[in-house]
Amino acid sequence: LYIVNISAEMAPVAKVGGLGDVVTGLSRSLQRKGHLVEIILPKYDCMDYTRIKSLKELDLELHSFFDGQIHKNKVWSGIVEGLPVYFIEPLHPAKFFWRGQFYSEPDDFKRFTYFCRAALEFLLQSGKRPDVIHSHDWHTAVVAPLYWDIYVPLGLDSARLAFTCHNFEYQGAEPAVALASCGLSVRELLRPDRMQDNSFPNKINLLKGGIVFSNVVTTVSPTYAQEVLRPEGGKGLQGTLAQHSRKFYGVLNGIDDESWNPATDSLLNHQYSADDLSGKEANKQMLRERLGLVTQGDDARRPLVGCITRLVPQKGVHLIRHSIYRTLERGGQFILLGSSPIPHIQHEFEGIARQFENHPQIRLVLKYDEALSHSIYAASDIFVIPSIFEPCGLTQMIAMRYGSIPVVRETGGLADSVFDVDNESIPIEKRNGFSFQSLDEGGLNWALDRAMSYYAQNPDWWEKLVRKAMKIDFSWDVSADQYVDFYNQIVTNVHATRT
Ligand code: ADP
Ligand code: GLC
Repeated sequence: LYIVNISAEMAPVAKVGGLGDVVTGLSRSLQRKGHLVEIILPKYDCMDYTRIKSLKELDLELHSFFDGQIHKNKVWSGIVEGLPVYFIEPLHPAKFFWRGQFYSEPDDFKRFTYFCRAALEFLLQSGKRPDVIHSHDWHTAVVAPLYWDIYVPLGLDSARLAFTCHNFEYQGAEPAVALASCGLSVRELLRPDRMQDNSFPNKINLLKGGIVFSNVVTTVSPTYAQEVLRPEGGKGLQGTLAQHSRKFYGVLNGIDDESWNPATDSLLNHQYSADDLSGKEANKQMLRERLGLVTQGDDARRPLVGCITRLVPQKGVHLIRHSIYRTLERGGQFILLGSSPIPHIQHEFEGIARQFENHPQIRLVLKYDEALSHSIYAASDIFVIPSIFEPCGLTQMIAMRYGSIPVVRETGGLADSVFDVDNESIPIEKRNGFSFQSLDEGGLNWALDRAMSYYAQNPDWWEKLVRKAMKIDFSWDVSADQYVDFYNQIVTNVHATRT
């Protein structure tokens, strides 16, 4: 199959969270299985250009429509993690992707609808005729209506459309007139069965458009696929999903087992594997020294608790905060790596970071830092993820691969990948971590305390658990096959057209 992903993120060059990891991990797995996979991204100024190979400008004048005018774009090609990528650089006066950050700009709706139109224009003009166009999240959801309404009539009609929603919290809903900028008809699309927002009838909802107009729609875990059928999870789109349930599936994400492999990870000072854990201990010692945590005498035996996250309400910010204090109370050490796009949350954590500035057991690092994230996964013994909701979550899988045992709230993909060691209704060989259900501090205490007690009181048992967690197969292999099945179904179904 020939598959083109149109996405706002791709790890490691343009990554904010798990979306970037998934686009790269899934594409690499599909490529290994013999498919041709290409990715189209915006050419952000803030990308990690050191990770793009053979970057060059294409000899192509790409003209695309926006706000009633034709605009010029440059298109660049490059190789990221072995995958062919095209980067769209608008020569638009608003400098859409020249902002020093990927998201959180007041005109994000415009930035990404512009990008989607230009990306499809690029496929049309360059003569590329993929079998599948796969878009992700609200940023590229408008690809679906654009494809059927504008590009199929122009002759870009080879493809069927797959859409993955990684998070129903962000939907791209704006006053309807905004949709006209990319050339779509507001009159046609502002209808309850098309793109009209289910809660605000004057708004157009991009995520809804992705669901309605794609041939197959997935989300990133089976449990989340159930949760979004209820109002708390679907956040207004539960009815739309119910109407389209025949083409809607939950597929658990994997992790890229080359990027996340402690035996070969070049960002670690000491590589290690389930068969020889000595490197893990050495990494723990080094990281503690580097961050100024005490390591001597009895302190050496303290469990190190890690947390790496975007600090947004979804992640259970109050429970993350609480887990720092609880760990301290129970005699552990804690390292948080995270940052927040929400100013009051960022300020709050800056306050906590100052409070613990030279503390011997606690360190907060409030930024995005890829290399440090690898060191924390490798160094930590326990990893907390107390999310309020979690579509899939990758950090629990990465943590386990690095031998750090997860303590999670039982929701979404966390419930599909972490099974409590004390839950007797689950086969013992599947049990791999600690989980709790309630949203208050009691549940977290119960799970975290158990983890810390097992660590302290039963080191041999703990070591077995670590080895077992490291050996679980979280690779993309199996889930990528499910995507291939969906792609094949939509490609061979000649009736699969615009709904
Ligand atoms: P989400 O996509 O909701 O943020 P995921 O668990 O799916 O959550 O993915 C998060 C990804 O982002 C992981 O690869 C994690 O290591 C990474 N990450 C999150 N915060 C940071 C940070 N501050 N520095 C480095 N990597 C981070
Ligand atoms: C979103 C979700 C996260 C998921 C990631 C990749 O960012 O918040 O749970 O793992 O997408 O699908």
